[in-house]
Amino acid sequence: MQEIQVRPVTDVDVRQQVARLVGIDLPPEGMLGVFATSEAIDGMALKAMLQGQVDALSRAIQPDPSTIRDPLTGLLTHSYFQEALVKAVAEAHRYAGIFSLLVIDIDFFTPINRRYGYAVGDQVLTLVTQAVSDTMRTSDLVSRFGGDEVAALLPKTDLDGAWILAERIREKVASLHLEVSGSVVPVLISAGVAELRPDESADSLEERARAAVDAAKRSGRNRCFRAGDLQIPDGQALAKGIQQRREAFYDSVQALAAVVEAKDAYTNSHSRSVAEYAYRLARRVGFEGDRLETLRLAATLHDLGKIGVPDAVLKKPGPLTDEEWDVMKRHPSIGRQIIGHTFHLGDLIPGLYYHHERWDGRGYPEGLAGEAIPLEARVVTIGDAYSAMVDDRVYRKGMSHDTACNNLRKAAGSQFDPQLVEIFIAMIEEEELEGRKVADPA
Ligand SMILES: [Fe+2]
Ligand SMILES: [Fe+2]
Repeated sequence: MQEIQVRPVTDVDVRQQVARLVGIDLPPEGMLGVFATSEAIDGMALKAMLQGQVDALSRAIQPDPSTIRDPLTGLLTHSYFQEALVKAVAEAHRYAGIFSLLVIDIDFFTPINRRYGYAVGDQVLTLVTQAVSDTMRTSDLVSRFGGDEVAALLPKTDLDGAWILAERIREKVASLHLEVSGSVVPVLISAGVAELRPDESADSLEERARAAVDAAKRSGRNRCFRAGDLQIPDGQALAKGIQQRREAFYDSVQALAAVVEAKDAYTNSHSRSVAEYAYRLARRVGFEGDRLETLRLAATLHDLGKIGVPDAVLKKPGPLTDEEWDVMKRHPSIGRQIIGHTFHLGDLIPGLYYHHERWDGRGYPEGLAGEAIPLEARVVTIGDAYSAMVDDRVYRKGMSHDTACNNLRKAAGSQFDPQLVEIFIAMIEEEELEGRKVADPA
């Protein structure tokens, strides 16, 4: 049997290993030989180590091609672009060249992602980057600049030239059409351009281009601004502008509601009345801020789709036939379709589209049951039913609050969310006790 000798690993062993790695032969073992070779190996090992470090360093300096390009858009990455920007700025200063920076920001990108999902957001980003790439010249360097931003280095381009290019891109993007399940998704951009000033740093140039984008956004989006001629409205003018736009928006909603009422057999204040009841109930269940406001608008426009129902069905005095009911039941879908074409009204869809669903799942258009029905819609349904019962109509007097509340209670758990019915009745009773009629919530 062969005897295995175990001995400690010596300095000589280590040196022999290194020698093998760097590809040299060691002289016969011996103190002198080991020392002589040890110096030679030290030098070679050091060289090898340095070479390794140089390789690692050069890998770090020259990025892997896959890190230069953004995988989604194929554009240069932000970090690569930043380096290129600094170099381009230095070069422009050295040769006294003209140079501009363009920054593009996609309008409504966050709400698009939130409402339609990230896949649609990516689609918007791809469409925009395609439009930018198609418009750019070969000398321009285009990069992704953040989640919803694209930037371009424009050598030999002055401010006006950059602005013309940006405007061309903006027009191209605005002409794109993207539709998701019947809703038009806005594909729009705001852009800012800045021309490099003498001795200006890359950071400062970028800051001015970004400020121009901000100004374009604040001025209503879908526009291009030059850094030199920013027209940022002062706080007061801005607030006034927002207020005017908000009022115009509410006017449009009321006008739409009036169209429905003119067509329907209800009283001419049905939309307003449903909106009031739904608003009060929503507030009781904890809605506030934008959600509460959106609910009120959804309730105002809940029957918008009746615009698309023929008068022969909508105003028929007698009971409807099965076919006529089928036509009538299309009004939530028609409403959703109309709303879908108006991006700002898209948030109203849950309250509007599902207002004829029933708690027991026997409603329409989807047949959703219980809490699967959006809370907004469950609230609107109760406001709608209550208003239909208590409001006077042309051909009959409205029911008393007591009778209407009893009817609601009877249908709690079948037609209506039982919990909401109780909250609603408690609210009405309190108001009755206080002797005040439900007033305009505005
Ligand atoms: Fe309805
Ligand atoms: Fe209604």
